[in-house]
Amino acid sequence: MKPPVIAIDGPAAAGKGTLARRIAAELGLPHLDTGLLYRGVARRVLDRGADPRDAAVAEREARALLAADLRRGDLRGPEADMAASAVSAIPGVRAALLDFQRHFGREGAVLDGRDIGTVVFPDALVKLFVTASVEARARRRFEELRSKGVPTDPETVEAELRRRDMQDAARSVAPLRAAPDALVLDTTTLDIEAAFAAALALVRERMAVE
Ligand code: DC
Repeated sequence: MKPPVIAIDGPAAAGKGTLARRIAAELGLPHLDTGLLYRGVARRVLDRGADPRDAAVAEREARALLAADLRRGDLRGPEADMAASAVSAIPGVRAALLDFQRHFGREGAVLDGRDIGTVVFPDALVKLFVTASVEARARRRFEELRSKGVPTDPETVEAELRRRDMQDAARSVAPLRAAPDALVLDTTTLDIEAAFAAALALVRERMAVE
């Protein structure tokens, strides 16, 4: 059987990154966190002192993106989050990153993002849409930031999460939404082990049908 493409989409802090990484390790497939691509572009734009909504600059930086940009230590945090979301709404940026993503998955892979099952790999064998209530997601993100020693408070984290979800879902190109054939996994009441077990069961079920 051809190695499968497994698409994992969903809103911020739903747990899709952790699930994608673990599923990839379990199945021996490469994993790509596609959010890093948008984060890398956003960083390059910010480095230039430009506005992340500037389409011409953002598109140019997307075309110039290097592997080293994805390994930078400053790709996360409130400024990077909002800037990544802003560049990701620009059609030219998305177009510039499409080939890389498709090439990455050509021999089977797990990719997580917002539009993997809808745009990047509409024919993916397995599509999971991982979601959770905004309160649960905000709580997780807050704990994550606190454990890293980032000074913040739960209200600010929740407000930023809502703003970013809205921006990601309302854009005209490749908005955040579940593909019609995606399996929805709601992790609101699941811890990571339970979420992983549920996700893996869904993946194996789909693979067995094939
Ligand atoms: O998954 P993440 O939070 O690291 O993604 C950062 C931003 O990048 C997110 O707000 C929306 C955008 N993104 C996207 O538009 N499409 C993807 N496939 C992945 C991320």
